[in-house]
Parts: sequence; C-alpha cells; structure tokens
Amino acid sequence: MREVEHPGGSHPATLILGIGELTTNAPSPAHGGGDDDPTGLVRDAALLLDGGRVVWAGPERDVAAGVEEALGRAPDRVVGVEGRAVVPGFVDSHSHLVFAGDRSGEFEARMAGRPYAAGGIRTTVAATRAASDDALRAGLRRHVDQALAQGTTTLETKSGYGLSVADEERSVRLASEVTEEVTFLGAHVVPPEFAGDAGGADAYVDLVVGEMLDACAPHARWVDAFCETGAFTPAQSRRVLEAGAAAGLGVRVHANQLGPGEGVRLAVELGAAAVDHCTFLSDDDVAALAGSWSVSRPGPGEAQGTVATLLPGVEFSTRQPYPDARRLLDAGAVVALASDCNPGSSYTSSMPLMVALAVREMGMTVPEAVLAATAGGARALRRDDVGHLAPGARADVVVLDAPSRTHLAYRPGVPLVHAVWKDGRHLAG
Ligand code: NIG
Ligand code: FE
Repeated sequence: MREVEHPGGSHPATLILGIGELTTNAPSPAHGGGDDDPTGLVRDAALLLDGGRVVWAGPERDVAAGVEEALGRAPDRVVGVEGRAVVPGFVDSHSHLVFAGDRSGEFEARMAGRPYAAGGIRTTVAATRAASDDALRAGLRRHVDQALAQGTTTLETKSGYGLSVADEERSVRLASEVTEEVTFLGAHVVPPEFAGDAGGADAYVDLVVGEMLDACAPHARWVDAFCETGAFTPAQSRRVLEAGAAAGLGVRVHANQLGPGEGVRLAVELGAAAVDHCTFLSDDDVAALAGSWSVSRPGPGEAQGTVATLLPGVEFSTRQPYPDARRLLDAGAVVALASDCNPGSSYTSSMPLMVALAVREMGMTVPEAVLAATAGGARALRRDDVGHLAPGARADVVVLDAPSRTHLAYRPGVPLVHAVWKDGRHLAG
C-alpha cells in the first residue's frame, strides 16, 4: 500500500467522517453501543486522529463538540468515507514469516489424502538455512505488505526455521526489522543434526536454553515452544519457556494442535500470554483457560490471563477439525484469532479469511470474530495501545469497502480493505 501524501506531514490531525458503522471495541454508553456490546459499535460515526493516536470517536452528530474538546482547532484534513464500515486494524498475534522455500507439493499431497505432520517443518529449515539475508528480508517484507493490504496493522512473527544458533539469531534479528512483536521459537522441532538417538531432543534443548537463547533474547519480546507429540514434550517445553522467562521474555506456547496434551495447562501454569492452536481441549484445559482471567472481558490495563488463540487457517489447510470456539467463549475464556501464516500448515496472512472461517466453521458470531481478530490479538500480545479505537489508541484504522463488518464473513475472498491508517499514516491501495 502507498502512503497518501499530505503537506502537513505524516501525522496530520485527520477527521474521518461518514462512517456508516464504527467498531471501537470500547464499550461505553456514551458511544451509543451500550454496555452489552463489547465491540462498542457506533452508527453514523466520526473518528479524529492526531499525532498517530485516536483522540476522539463518537456519533457524527457530536463531532463539532468532539473536535473542539479533543483538538481545539480545525483538523488538517477531513476524509469522507461515504457510509463505509470502519474497524480497528487487525492484530495478527501468530505468524512464521522468516522462511524460504515452498511446500505446495506437500499441500497437494495432503489434499490427495496424506495427513499433516510436524516433520514438514524440516523442509523449510533446509531452505531457510540456505537462503541469504536479503532473500529472507525480501520474503518477510512481501508477507508483511500482503498482510497490511488485508488490514493487519500489528503483526507478531517467529523464528523457528533456523534451528541453529546462527540461523535463529539471524531469524529474530531480521524479524525485528519489520515488527516489535518478535518471538524466539528455537523449540519448533528438533533439527536433523540432533535427531536419531534418544538423547537428541534433550541435547538440542540444552542448546536452545543456553547459547541460542543468549543470542536471540536481545532481538525478541517472546519465547515459544511447540509442545506436541513429534516436537517437544511438556518437560522439554517447560525448560525452554522457563529459561526464556528468566531471560526476560514473555511466554507463548504452541499446543494441542495435533492431539490432546498437557501444553495448554503448562501455558496457564507459566502465566503465558497466549496458548495457540487449542484444537484438542479437555474440560480441564477449558476450565484452566477461563480461570486464568479474573474478569471475562478485560479492557486495556486490566488483569492478564492466558488467551486461547485459534488459528482456523491451519484447520482449513490441513483438513483437521476446527477448534470449538463456542465452548471456550461460553466458559468465559478470552479468544483471539490469528493467521499462523507459514509455508506448511496455513499459508495465508488474511485476517478477513480468519474472521470468515471463525463465523462459518467455528460458531462465532460476527462481533465475536471481529473482536477476537482485533482486541483478542492485542490481549494475546499484552498490548493496550492496539486492537481498539478509543481515545489514546494507536491510530490503526481499517476502512472496509462495505457498509458493515458483517461483509468480512459474508463476502469471503473479496478484497474488502478500502484504506488503512497505520500508526496515523494514511495508506491506500
Ligand atoms: O503453527 N505447529 C507448529 N508450527 C507451525 C507449522 C509450521 C510448518 O508446518 O512449517 C504451526 O502450524
Ligand atoms: Fe504456529
């Protein structure tokens, strides 16, 4: 997307008028959404941005008073969006974008009946190790741009296709050039040079928690481990996650993707910000996730539990059963939707597609799915400044070429992003 030039610099005070339907994710009767609407929907709304932040949001009939109070002068720019719907920029809290190579053959075989297995990751590891920094950088930028064009304004991404000290360090370093939400996933799978004998995985974990963590922690905000049969046991995952936490990293976990297991409960026990996949859950897992929150709909700054991040692109692309979002929501768990964009299990960065799948396949309502793809992702990254459009939020705004957010699910596969403000900068396609 290209930046729309403006003589007042890249952060002019901008008033967006003519919003048919504004999703603020800020429940407040003052906004007309009512207390029972967690998405803070305002019809016939206006939004005022200044200095890269939202400074006012509300019904357009109140805009004169709002601008006077929040800005005290005329805005530098006024943009009319002609009845279109506006949502907060999507927060994609789970992706794997530092990689090289292509696994379309594996996808094709899977569609012909072969099951998904974590071992395919090693194919990407070989291609990633062989790639130059510039090739990895170009791939990263291409994927980040594609995500932005579909409305993703905050994006987490992981290492995990390097699996040597040098290649993991390079992965997190390159990732940090495109996002502040970088995750060290040295514990993705055991690399081929450690596989084979029984002690291989433990010897690799020794490396991950030692020299590899030391090299990667300075470039990362998070540590992650793939706690699954075929990857790392709960005990090995615990070692990695505890070592990462001791090095100052926040904890997130891949778990319960391919079958039931202890990963979800481990994540909750360790106070992880999120546990991702959650496809195979026991009643105890669901209770642990719900019980990790002291309030069911935490707002910015409120208590932090463990978010269940659902990745429906994986089930779509691997023909696994979808996770049961209804069961989690009804139990009081906090749910996020993310793309898991990676070359093996979900090669799409489209958050609108995740919303459509969640609504069509996972029993989520449209407001629940939009909330999970915005505020849910923000909770999963423990960010208060994104995922909503209340005053003080980062000015990450998506204008849909549609009269309502329902079109995200109603018109799957259609490019619905009309314009984006990212960090207050106006981008258009
Ligand atoms: O999140 N689950 C583990 N890792 C990725 C898959 C990566 C791959 O197949 O390359 C995931 O689905
Ligand atoms: Fe993943």
